[in-house]
Amino acid sequence: MFEDQMDKVRITFDEWAISGRSELMEKEHSKTVLKFLNSVPFDKPFSFLDVGCGNGWVVRKIAQLKNCKKAVGIDKSKNMITKANSKKKSLKELYLKADIQSWKFRNKFDYIFSMESLYYLSPMESGLKKIYRLLKPGGQFFCGTDFYSDNKATTHWSEMMKLPLDLRSKKQWKKTFEEIGFKTKTKQVKDPSNRKKWKQEFGTLFIIGTK
Ligand SMILES: C[S@@+](CC[C@H](N)C(=O)[O-])C[C@H]1O[C@@H](n2cnc3c(N)ncnc32)[C@H](O)[C@@H]1O
Repeated sequence: MFEDQMDKVRITFDEWAISGRSELMEKEHSKTVLKFLNSVPFDKPFSFLDVGCGNGWVVRKIAQLKNCKKAVGIDKSKNMITKANSKKKSLKELYLKADIQSWKFRNKFDYIFSMESLYYLSPMESGLKKIYRLLKPGGQFFCGTDFYSDNKATTHWSEMMKLPLDLRSKKQWKKTFEEIGFKTKTKQVKDPSNRKKWKQEFGTLFIIGTK
């Protein structure tokens, strides 16, 4: 309980949920995330988990797909989960307040997704191992990050947010996934129309891990 009260990540995002920043993140992240997700066929019935779902915008989108049977979003911020529940569009969606490290869930997923969330675990290995366990054999983890050391414009974020963030290079992200047991690929999704130079030149790094 005491630990939870002191959790700076949770406190930060509880505030962001109230101040409208979850919608700003949705706007900022959606261009590259949707470009990436639109390239996934989702051609068989599937279950989906979003780790660090924020206001639930990805879960809402995915739940609209015909083959989606269940889309779950977890977030350690209670206010983010309240926000996600208030925006809920379908019975396929489920939002739970949980920290990925301690979350207990019986079912396994076909796809797990996470955007700009994993590096709040510093180091990220414990969360990544948990995600691996939560995937069915052959299941895939799509992990999006704008925060990676090759993308120099973002490397000051830890200082800016006053939070210990786990900064790694593209090569290190890939190696970390492989050490957990994933077959791993990476993809940089750029946004040529964005006014930010780094979005045009580096974009969002997706690490695609297959169990
Ligand atoms: C930068 S926000 C991104 C939110 C959302 N994915 C988006 O793109 O709009 C990071 C989110 O991850 C959540 N988060 C951070 N660490 C977490 C953990 N260990 N377990 C669950 N959620 C976590 C935060 O509470 C926050 O809502």
